[in-house]
Amino acid sequence: MNILSPSVLSIDFNHMGEELAIAEGAGAEYIHVDVMDGMFVPNISFGPPVIKYIRSAVNCVMDVHLMIEEPSRYISVFKECGADILTVHTESCKHLHSTIMAIKKAGMKAGVALNPATPASVLECVINDVDMVLVMSVNPGFGGQKFISSALEKIRNVKALAEANNADPDIEVDGGITTENVGQVLKAGANVIVAGSAVFNGNIKENIAAFQRILRECE
Ligand code: DX5
Ligand code: ZN
Repeated sequence: MNILSPSVLSIDFNHMGEELAIAEGAGAEYIHVDVMDGMFVPNISFGPPVIKYIRSAVNCVMDVHLMIEEPSRYISVFKECGADILTVHTESCKHLHSTIMAIKKAGMKAGVALNPATPASVLECVINDVDMVLVMSVNPGFGGQKFISSALEKIRNVKALAEANNADPDIEVDGGITTENVGQVLKAGANVIVAGSAVFNGNIKENIAAFQRILRECE
């Protein structure tokens, strides 16, 4: 099943509760929560108090994307915030395998994200341990950037690596996704679609409906 995960980074924070309710009502299955520490990425977003509020506002699966250095320090914190899926970057973990294991032990699904310059092959030794692979299609840090098209080949490589190892992780793609390019992303093998500006800029309900039509067509 193809899933839409709207990114709250592009929400209107003055009307956060309202917009979250609209997104959930329009059929968003997941809500994507981008945590940035100003170290791993140049930007700082938000932390636990805001994430706890998001948890209380919607019943969607909370899909937390950590763009922070050494995320292993904060696994229990994000569990307490109500994360269902916790995704860490390969580039920010000294001990990726043990971090994945700790996320699962804490009772969350474990995702691993790859920056645009990181090849799928770094996942060779953990592909059977991860619940989700997140292919970044922009350099992480900001919403509203342009889709980097080499992500399409990387999605195919992740899919091939998974198949070769009899693994079946979800493949999530994040950055610059619009109703124009989402079809290509799905055809390459992704099944979880993050969209921030393309969902929250303009009419949220109509934007989600337009994405959902394509997600259903491509199943
Ligand atoms: C970028 C974040 C994304 C971002 C996507 O670092 O990980 O989740 O919010 O925003 P758009 O869809 O506008 O590129
Ligand atoms: Zn993200």
